[in-house]
Amino acid sequence: MTGVGSTEPASSGGAGSAGAGAGTNKPSRYASWTAGKLPLPELVEMKRRGEKIVMVTAYDAPSGRLADAAGVDMILVGDSSGMVMHGRESTVPVTLDEILFMTQWVTRGAKRPLVIADMPFGTYEASNEQAIGTAVRLVKEGGADAVKLERGGTSVARAKAIVDAGIAVMGHVGLTPQTATVLGGFKAQGRTADRATELIDDALALQEAGCFAVVLEAVPAPVARKATRALGVPTIGIGAGGDTDGQVLVWHDMLGFYEGHAPRFVKRYAELGDAITAALGRFAEEVRSGAFPEERHTYTMPETEREAFERAGAPTATSRRR
Ligand code: KIV
Repeated sequence: MTGVGSTEPASSGGAGSAGAGAGTNKPSRYASWTAGKLPLPELVEMKRRGEKIVMVTAYDAPSGRLADAAGVDMILVGDSSGMVMHGRESTVPVTLDEILFMTQWVTRGAKRPLVIADMPFGTYEASNEQAIGTAVRLVKEGGADAVKLERGGTSVARAKAIVDAGIAVMGHVGLTPQTATVLGGFKAQGRTADRATELIDDALALQEAGCFAVVLEAVPAPVARKATRALGVPTIGIGAGGDTDGQVLVWHDMLGFYEGHAPRFVKRYAELGDAITAALGRFAEEVRSGAFPEERHTYTMPETEREAFERAGAPTATSRRR
């Protein structure tokens, strides 16, 4: 088998050569899957070096490809998709099948970034067995490199069970949208000394369970700073100030094509919604005026064939039946 990251063709025989095309320099199936992939242990090295980790959500192949081309380190196939893509009011109704499909699409587009699949609400809370079953599907059928679950509490045991099954897990504390109702809505968490301490304890428990990173969502900057110093694994902040080891934003929020309420922590790096509306408006205008399509957008046929075709005259109902 060729080594991870190698582009040499595999030697004949064995699983390592299964994907190598005859006479081509294609890597083996195993190597093509892992070649160029950011190794998971590199994240903790990045934290050690003080190098910021960049994560963004994505939900389809083109977005995965663009995020990869932009050099992001991790892509989250988030259940935020339920709200920004599918028009729902919350992430609660998102299903495992939806996340599975989107993970397959994203992993077709993104090669270097680690792809993390969100475990949807209701697919891991009941038991460790349920949690392992869900995580296995996301990795095996979805092609995810790791999974993410929300909360401390019972999720700590679920995270440990999944890690023990050999699957990398990312934790998520602070504002956990799947249980926003219990938290009193979509609002910042850890704003009292007691709640801040509980939040950091949850993050430490997830690290103890084997999580390779923890998302801190909508927590005051001093709390995120203390958590980041307390944890050996990287913290990825969203609305958690500038001292976390990395940052994540939701694709549609940061690119400006989500019409719902955007939280204060969102920075819009583009106004793609406006650009898309303007482009569609121009298309509609040109179709209506006849300006589109132009000659260069249409197919031609050989002149002799066109003449023969014109000579044949208009088709009649009888000629069409034949
Ligand atoms: O679903 C999601 O996009 C998330 C991020 C906000 C961290 O969980």
